[in-house]
Amino acid sequence: MKNILITGGAGYIGSHTAVQLVEAGYNPIIIDDLSNSEEKVLDRLEDIIGKRLTFYKGDCSDRGLLDQIATEHELAGVIHFAAFKAVGESTKQPLKYYQNNLGSLVALLDFMKAKQIKDLVFSSSCTVYGQPEQLPVTEATPRQDAESPYGNTKKICEDILVDFVKSQAGIRVISLRYFNPVGAHPSGKIGELPIGTPANLVPFVTQTAAGIREKLTIFGDDYDTIDGSCVRDFIHVMDLADAHVKALDYLKEQQEDFYDVFNVGTGNGNTVLEVIRTFEKVNRVKVNFEIGARRPGDIVKIWADTTKINAILHWYPSYSLEDSLRDSWNWQKTL
Ligand SMILES: NC(=O)c1ccc[n+]([C@@H]2O[C@H](COP(=O)([O-])OP(=O)(O)OC[C@H]3O[C@@H](n4cnc5c(N)ncnc54)[C@H](O)[C@@H]3O)[C@@H](O)[C@H]2O)c1
Repeated sequence: MKNILITGGAGYIGSHTAVQLVEAGYNPIIIDDLSNSEEKVLDRLEDIIGKRLTFYKGDCSDRGLLDQIATEHELAGVIHFAAFKAVGESTKQPLKYYQNNLGSLVALLDFMKAKQIKDLVFSSSCTVYGQPEQLPVTEATPRQDAESPYGNTKKICEDILVDFVKSQAGIRVISLRYFNPVGAHPSGKIGELPIGTPANLVPFVTQTAAGIREKLTIFGDDYDTIDGSCVRDFIHVMDLADAHVKALDYLKEQQEDFYDVFNVGTGNGNTVLEVIRTFEKVNRVKVNFEIGARRPGDIVKIWADTTKINAILHWYPSYSLEDSLRDSWNWQKTL
C-alpha cells in the first residue's frame, strides 16, 4: 500500500481526500499544524474509514519533522493542501500568507528532492484566472494579475513548481485549479469548519439557515448574469477529492520532470441566488438574505471548461448542486 503524505490533511479538502485515498488503496499520512482545523477530525475519519490514520501535528515546513516522517514511512507521493486561504485576511496580513503558502511549498520541494519522492499534487485555484475575458476558462486561458495576496501566492506557487520541474529535480507535479468546493461527506461526519465568520458562500448560507447568522448579504444583484448575482462553478468536495486520486494515478505513469495543470469544476456556472434558492428547496428551510452593494474586486462570473481533466484524467463529477447543498446542510446539523 503506497503511503501518501497529505499536508493540511485535517482541513476541509484534505480530510475528504484522505477518505477517497483509502478507498482507492492508498495509505494517507497526515501532517497538519491544526491552525485551521481540529484534531477530532481524526476521530471522524476513523469512524468513516474504519481505521486510525497516521497523524503528525506540526508545520509542514519543519524539515526535522518531515525527515522524521520519511524515516518512519516510505513515501510514494505528497498532496500539498496546507496553506492559509482567507482572501480578506491576506490583504491585511500579506506576509503571513507569503511566508506560509510559499515557504511551505519551498520546504516541501527541497525535502522531496532530498528524499527522492517523485509525485506531488498541488492545491491551486481558479483565482489565478482573475476576471476572465472568455468563458468557460480553459487551462490555456491566460492567468491575470492576482486580486489578493492569497491569489498571488497560488500564482507564485505554480511558477515555483514550473521552475523546479525545469531544473530536472526528478519530480512529477500536477497543479489542480479548484473552482468552488462545497458540500461535505455524505455521512455528515466531516465537512468545512470555518473558524469565525465564514468567507465562503455555502457555510454562510448553512449558518444563516441554522440561525447562527442573522442574515446573509448578497453582494450585488445588478451584474450581467441571468439574475444579476455573481456566477461560480460549485464542485462537490467528494468529487474534488476524487480528482486528487486520479491525479496521483496519472503521475505514476509519467516521465520524470513532468508538470501539468487541470481545472477541477463541474463545467457549469450557478448564480449566488440560484444556490440560495436550491438550498431552500432541497432542504426545506428558509435563508434570510438581503441584497447589498457590489463588493470591490469580486469576479462577476467564472466557470470551468473541464474538457482536459475529462479526457486525460478520466475524471467526471458525479454529485449535483442539489447533492452538495443537501450534504452541506447535513454537516451543519451535525455541527
Ligand atoms: N476551500 C476553497 O474554497 C479552496 C479553493 C481553491 C483552493 N483551495 C486551496 O486548497 C487547499 C486546502 O483548502 P481547504 O479549504 O481544505 O483549507 P483548510 O484551511 O480547511 O485546510 C488547510 C489545512 O492546512 C493546515 N495548515 C495550514 N498551514 C499549515 C502548515 N504550514 N503546516 C501544516 N498544516 C498547515 C490547516 O490547519 C488546515 O487544516 C489550500 O491550499 C487552499 O488554498 C481552497
